[in-house]
Amino acid sequence: MIVSLFDWNSMLPLVSLLLLATQTANEKIEVAVGQSEYRTFCHTEAPHYDSASRSLFFVDTYVGKVCRHHLKWNATYCTCSLDHVLGSVVPVSNQPDWYIIGLGPYSAKMYWDGYIPHAEVHILGRHDEDAGAGTVFNDGKADCAQRLFMDTKGNASLFHYTKQSCNFEKDIDNEDGAIYNGIAWNSANDKLFLAETARAVIYSFDYNIQIGKISNRSVLFDFKANNVSGLPDGMAMDVDDNLWVAAIFGSYVYQISTRNGTLLRAVKMPARDVTSVIWGGPKLDILFVTSSQHNLNDEEKRQQPRAGSVFAVRGLGTRGRRGNNAAICTAGCAEDGCSRSRCGQEVASPPASEFRRRWLPILSGAFAFLRRDSVLFWRFSRGKPSKIELLPWA
Ligand SMILES: *[C@@H]1O[C@H](CO)[C@@H](O)[C@H](O)[C@H]1NC(C)=O
Ligand SMILES: *[C@@H]1O[C@H](CO)[C@@H](O)[C@H](O)[C@H]1NC(C)=O
Ligand SMILES: *[C@@H]1O[C@H](CO)[C@@H](O)[C@H](O)[C@H]1NC(C)=O
Ligand SMILES: *[C@@H]1O[C@H](CO)[C@@H](O)[C@H](O)[C@H]1NC(C)=O
Ligand SMILES: *[C@@H]1O[C@H](CO)[C@@H](O)[C@H](O)[C@H]1NC(C)=O
Repeated sequence: MIVSLFDWNSMLPLVSLLLLATQTANEKIEVAVGQSEYRTFCHTEAPHYDSASRSLFFVDTYVGKVCRHHLKWNATYCTCSLDHVLGSVVPVSNQPDWYIIGLGPYSAKMYWDGYIPHAEVHILGRHDEDAGAGTVFNDGKADCAQRLFMDTKGNASLFHYTKQSCNFEKDIDNEDGAIYNGIAWNSANDKLFLAETARAVIYSFDYNIQIGKISNRSVLFDFKANNVSGLPDGMAMDVDDNLWVAAIFGSYVYQISTRNGTLLRAVKMPARDVTSVIWGGPKLDILFVTSSQHNLNDEEKRQQPRAGSVFAVRGLGTRGRRGNNAAICTAGCAEDGCSRSRCGQEVASPPASEFRRRWLPILSGAFAFLRRDSVLFWRFSRGKPSKIELLPWA
C-alpha cells in the first residue's frame, strides 16, 4: 500500500532472487474472493477474520470500500466508497455492526450491517496534523486486551487507543518517509512487531501488555540483508510465534521466526503485489492473503489476472490465533473486564447466530426477487431502499 512515496525502480536491483526454495508440497492456493462480472477488486488489504460471524473483513484501499466475505455462504458484500483511502477495519467490542476504521488521515467509527452498501461513518478525530497531507492511516489491530493500535504511512506514526483519554495516543512520532504496516504480537504478549515497508525491515519492540507501551526497538529481519524479494507489508503471527509476512513487489509470503529472525519458508503467490495476510476459517488454519493490481501496468495485469483478489492458502501445517475486537470508551466493559486475564489463552468461539445474521435482515426487510442463478433482496435500511445480492443458488 505504497505508491509514489518513493521510486520503486531504484529499489528493484537491490532485491535479488530468493535462494530459499523451501515451498512444501502440501500447500493449496485458491482464490477466496475474486474478480467477477459484478465486482472488481483493486487493492485488497488489512484483512481481519471475525470468528463469531465467520467473516473475513478487508478494505479495497484506494477505492475506499470496506468488504465482508462470509466463509460459509461464500458471499461477499461491500460498502459504497467512503471517499477516502482506507486503512484498516476492526470490529468494536460489544457493539455488533460497529467498526473502527482508518479513513484517510482520520480515525472513524462506522456502522454497517454487513450486507447493504450504505454505511454510516462518524469521524473520531484527526491525530497527526504535523505529518503532512499525504500521511494517512494504514494497518490496525487490537492486542489481546482489545487495545487498538493503528499506524500510518507517509511520515509514519504508530498510535494506540486508550480508555484513559478515550482517544488515540502516539507511540512513535512521524518517522520521515516511513510506511508502517503489519502490527503483530507474540504469544507471551511481550513483543510487538511492526513492518517498515520503505526501509524494508521488520522491527521488534518489547511490549508491556499491562499498559500497552512499546520500548527497545530493534530490527528482527532486514529484507535487503537477507536477499529476499519484495518489501514487507501486512503480517500475521502463527501459534508458534513465527511471522507470516506479505511481500509487496515480491510475489511471496514469507514465514520468519521471531525467536532468531531466520527465514523459515517462502510461499509463492499468483500476484506480484501481495499486501497482507490473516489466519481464518473454523480452525484458523487458512492463511488469507490480500493482493493488488493498483501498481500493475496493462501487460502485468494480463499476466496476473487474479491480482487484487483475496487468496486462501491451505495446508501450511500451522494456524493462528483469534483476532481481537477493539474496546473503545463507548463499548461497555463486560468483555473488556476479563479479557486481560485471558490474554494468551485460546477462547472458544461462540456459535455464529445463523438466524440473526442470515434471516433476520431478510425478514425485517422488504421483499426478494428470485432469479435463475441467485436471489436479489430489496430492503429498507433506516428509510433508504437498498439492493443487496445474496447467495447464488448453487
Ligand atoms: C465461491 O464463489 C465463487 C464465485 O463467486 C466461485 O468461483 C468459487 O468456486 C466459490 N467457492 C467455493 C468454495 O464454493
Ligand atoms: C513528510 O514531511 C515532509 C516535511 O515535513 C513533507 O514535505 C512531506 O510532504 C510529508 N510527506 C507526506 C507523505 O505527507
Ligand atoms: C529494554 O532492553 C534492556 C536491555 O536488553 C532491558 O534491560 C529492559 O528491561 C528492556 N526494557 C523493557 C521495557 O523491556
Ligand atoms: C546476498 O547476496 C550477496 C550477493 O549475491 C551475497 O554476497 C550475500 O552473501 C547474500 N546474503 C545472504 C544472507 O544470503
Ligand atoms: C530459529 O528458530 C526456529 C523456530 O522459531 C527454528 O526452527 C530454527 O531452527 C532456528 N534457526 C536457527 C538458525 O537458529
